[in-house]
Amino acid sequence: MNGTPPLAWDEGLECWVVADPRLARQVLNHPGFTSGTFERSFQLYMSEPAREEYRELTEFLRLWFVQADAPEHTALRRPVQRVMSASYVRSLAPRVEEITDECLDALAATAPHDVVPAVADGISGKVMAHVVGVTEPPEVLHRWARTLSLFIGAMYRRDYARAAHRTMTEMTEALSRATAPKAFPQETPEDRARTTATWAMNLFGGLETTSSLLASTVMDVLGEPAVWDAVREGRPGAAEAFVERVLQRRPPLRHLGRVVAYDQEIAGERMKEGDLVLVSLTGEGLLDDADAPDVPAAGCPVTGATAGAGGPEQHLVFGFGPHYCVGAPLARLEAAVLLRRFAARFPGARLTDEAAVWGPNLSYVGLDHLYLDLGV
Ligand code: HEM
Repeated sequence: MNGTPPLAWDEGLECWVVADPRLARQVLNHPGFTSGTFERSFQLYMSEPAREEYRELTEFLRLWFVQADAPEHTALRRPVQRVMSASYVRSLAPRVEEITDECLDALAATAPHDVVPAVADGISGKVMAHVVGVTEPPEVLHRWARTLSLFIGAMYRRDYARAAHRTMTEMTEALSRATAPKAFPQETPEDRARTTATWAMNLFGGLETTSSLLASTVMDVLGEPAVWDAVREGRPGAAEAFVERVLQRRPPLRHLGRVVAYDQEIAGERMKEGDLVLVSLTGEGLLDDADAPDVPAAGCPVTGATAGAGGPEQHLVFGFGPHYCVGAPLARLEAAVLLRRFAARFPGARLTDEAAVWGPNLSYVGLDHLYLDLGV
């Protein structure tokens, strides 16, 4: 831990920071910490006139169930989890392979060969468009996701609020024509607003995070000749095991927010109702925690990847507890398929000099560009 305290108040950020992975797991699974960080941030960071002007936007985000707590959250999550079941994700594999091949064609056809727009944004965008049933191309979906995440990260910015408001309108329009939301409640205006918010959240959840994983996977494998050989030779499980290492090494999301629900003392610190908490997802090494029987069984139900010798998941990359990512099997599938198809298609690929251009966003680990010599 390099002397980093497990829990500390950060004067600059004006919030608590949970750095220790075991404490992080407790906080993410504890009724004393609520998920309603947007609501708290609207109060803290948006002026009264801005809240008034962008009421529609704040209402839309408030309805995302990632912001809700039990029992409301449990009821809203259940139907989405059913849609994203292991058998459904498994059934997507042939479509993910086709999409991957189309995106590798696009990579070969553009110069310089930049993995981020053609492959990472391309695959994650087309897969999410397929799952949700929207027709917009990946660049539109990713523009939406980036616009919303800029606003979520800096709600005091009126320009971000304006752009996010426009995005909300475009997303709502697209989702009114989409296929997946049609199977969700539509009777009343409240039902329709909730259904739109749920699918906007799902769409958003599968874009920037997954694009980051896909780009990191290509970058890292080209720096590891032994793994590259194993994947090229088609060694069973090699791609899945490597994706797990990439997730741990470069978690696409670095932290999650929570709000202290009531005054309490944790790890020797007094926390007050309404305090914001940033929970770091970058820690590893949770296995010896014998007193946590409710840890999700490790291992992806779709790809079979295990995050640590078949024991409990060794990282917090997909979160922990009731909000554990519903799209984890899909993200893992996309990355493993990409690795295999990419190695088969471009066995002589190499990183160019200064291949990686990192993005400025502090919450996402993300590449803006990744330039390759495809060796063909
Ligand atoms: C590598 C890719 C991904 C990463 C790193 C990631 C990460 C996360 C994390 C950390 C959470 C927990 C949020 C919290 O506790 O507040 C989460 C929740 C969620 N993710 Fe993902 N995610 C990824 C891919 C996806 C995909 C592909 C989808 C869509 C299919 C998706 C949809 C969601 C949804 C809907 C939630 C909310 C779950 C809930 O609140 O119950 N994610 N994700």
